[in-house]
Amino acid sequence: MPNKITLIPGDGIGPEVVYATKDIIDKSGAEIEWEILNAGICVMDEYNTPLPDKVIDSIKKNKVALKGPITTPVGTGFRSVNVALRQKLNLYANIRPIKSYEGINTLHKNVDFVIVRENTEGLYAGIEHRVGDEACESIKIITKKASDRIAKFAFELAKKENRKKVTATHKANIMKLSDGLFLKCAKDVAKDYEIDFEDVIVDAMSMKLVMNPQNYDVVVAPNLYGDVLSDMSAGLIGGLGMAPGANIGDNIAVFEPVHGSAPDIAGKNLANPISCILTGVMMLKYIGENDAALKIESALEKVFKQKDKLTKDLVGGLLGTKEFAQTVIEHM
Ligand code: NAI
Repeated sequence: MPNKITLIPGDGIGPEVVYATKDIIDKSGAEIEWEILNAGICVMDEYNTPLPDKVIDSIKKNKVALKGPITTPVGTGFRSVNVALRQKLNLYANIRPIKSYEGINTLHKNVDFVIVRENTEGLYAGIEHRVGDEACESIKIITKKASDRIAKFAFELAKKENRKKVTATHKANIMKLSDGLFLKCAKDVAKDYEIDFEDVIVDAMSMKLVMNPQNYDVVVAPNLYGDVLSDMSAGLIGGLGMAPGANIGDNIAVFEPVHGSAPDIAGKNLANPISCILTGVMMLKYIGENDAALKIESALEKVFKQKDKLTKDLVGGLLGTKEFAQTVIEHM
């Protein structure tokens, strides 16, 4: 029986990178039946909402989705579909591996760590209100339940992937109650594992990651810090075109690259599909299609060593999105 998977192309560069990934997965030997549904601004007219119930229902039924980025209006308009999906499906762990590959021009070599970001609360709870005409308040929610859960997830991931250290990052020197609780939970959970643990204040963490990313293995963070550190870390390994991701809950998962819909390059065959392809590889491993995952990964590694076969955002790259995907298929 093929695995049934919900495919959400998204908007901006979403469809370009998602269909490039789908083509590669379809030729990898993985047995997948795709259920294609969309969300975001492109469905607003038809459904009067950017997140139709049928999308949520499809993911709940199939338990796994591959999703492209979806544009969120800045300052006004509907709330982020991405955040809403994570909250509605309780996809509490956002996993963002940061890995440098041979052949790709990067700021550092031998980088291999994973950001584990709390995905349901913090400042992304979206609880904001006006205070009179000249002030606004945004409420940051940190709970013991979510902090314990994400810390445990980070240690379990470290155990499964044979990683040596978990680093919790926070700003508990200033937000003594909220980040203080996050840190206390991480410290308490650490006692149950024989894995090294340390905590680093998030501003110092940013500097340390830029200077010595090889010192890190698993980085666990509240929602906002995890988001900011992931884009920054993508910059260490070739940019947002190189950073895959997964949103994981209990028995349900939505796989999506770290990057957004990149309206500046959308529709121009310029998007780098590698983050989405690597996201697809994560998904294949999650559903047990290990042979297909390894086949794609090894094809990618062969292509990475031929600089002119990369997309133009990477040093030396000459190819468009479609031509890159075709090259990966030829190397499989
Ligand atoms: P972005 O990640 O879309 O783009 C930032 C910069 O990186 C741009 O210069 C873009 O061209 C480049 N870039 C991103 N992905 C690339 C790729 N695959 N290949 C080559 N270059 C790439 O971030 P931005 O511009 O801040 O956000 C655009 C929209 O995306 C916003 O509406 C935002 O809310 C949304 N967004 C959606 C996400 C999601 O669906 N999960 C995540 C992040 C942002």
